[in-house]
Amino acid sequence: MSSRDTDHDSEPQSEVTDTLSSQKPKRVSFAARTVNDPTWDPVHSTVIQKLDCRHVDLVRKIALLSFPDAWESKDFAYFLSHPSGHSYGLFQKNFDSRKPELQAYFIGFLVKGDLDIISIATRTDQRRKGYAESVMRYVRSLPNVRRVFLEVDMENTAAIKLYTKIGFEIVGQRKKYYENKRDAYVMRWQHAKYTPSKLN
Ligand SMILES: CC(C)(COP(=O)(O)OP(=O)(O)OC[C@H]1O[C@@H](n2cnc3c(N)ncnc32)[C@H](O)[C@@H]1OP(=O)(O)O)[C@@H](O)C(=O)NCCC(=O)NCCS
Repeated sequence: MSSRDTDHDSEPQSEVTDTLSSQKPKRVSFAARTVNDPTWDPVHSTVIQKLDCRHVDLVRKIALLSFPDAWESKDFAYFLSHPSGHSYGLFQKNFDSRKPELQAYFIGFLVKGDLDIISIATRTDQRRKGYAESVMRYVRSLPNVRRVFLEVDMENTAAIKLYTKIGFEIVGQRKKYYENKRDAYVMRWQHAKYTPSKLN
């Protein structure tokens, strides 16, 4: 299966449910959902939304084309449903199918203000549009995120440039970190107002 496939019928509609007003969840259209959404980008018709275990197949579809050793569905399900999970996707409205499509994903764990990036990728045919940058800037702006950590293959120039562009710095190295024995940089971004004492 390819991330370039146009078969998005299996994608969940980007709908939110209003469980307060009635017992049966009320469906809200993508248009209604985005009208007051600060993440709505009218240029690309995109919005950033939280991911959960319903999005496993969509996330894995992107991962399979982005990583030589993409995880199994159960692994994504674990991360996407974990209580400490902090995972978001950038969806684009599809004017033909009227279903929003996942273009980029971010999977992270947030523990006591420290956000660890577990995985991030953009659909191969949607790269260099600023999608990964948008998701990362959004996620780190969320309340309680004080610092962000990640490991990146030292030879992954695109990712290193992305992280450097948005203020990450190299703070360490891990030798033979990956299964293929490649080395990794440890990179960190921290909030301008971060002080260690604020976490205690
Ligand atoms: C790394 C990755 C997530 C970037 O996604 P993206 O949506 O294309 O990135 P963006 O368009 O937001 O790029 C933002 C900035 O990152 C840098 N960048 C991204 N891709 C780049 C590339 N191929 N070459 C050089 N710089 C690049 C640029 O500075 C870019 O800003 P600019 O376009 O204004 O110059 C994407 O290439 C990808 O999915 N790669 C495979 C999976 C992967 O390696 N994930 C990271 C694991 S640590």
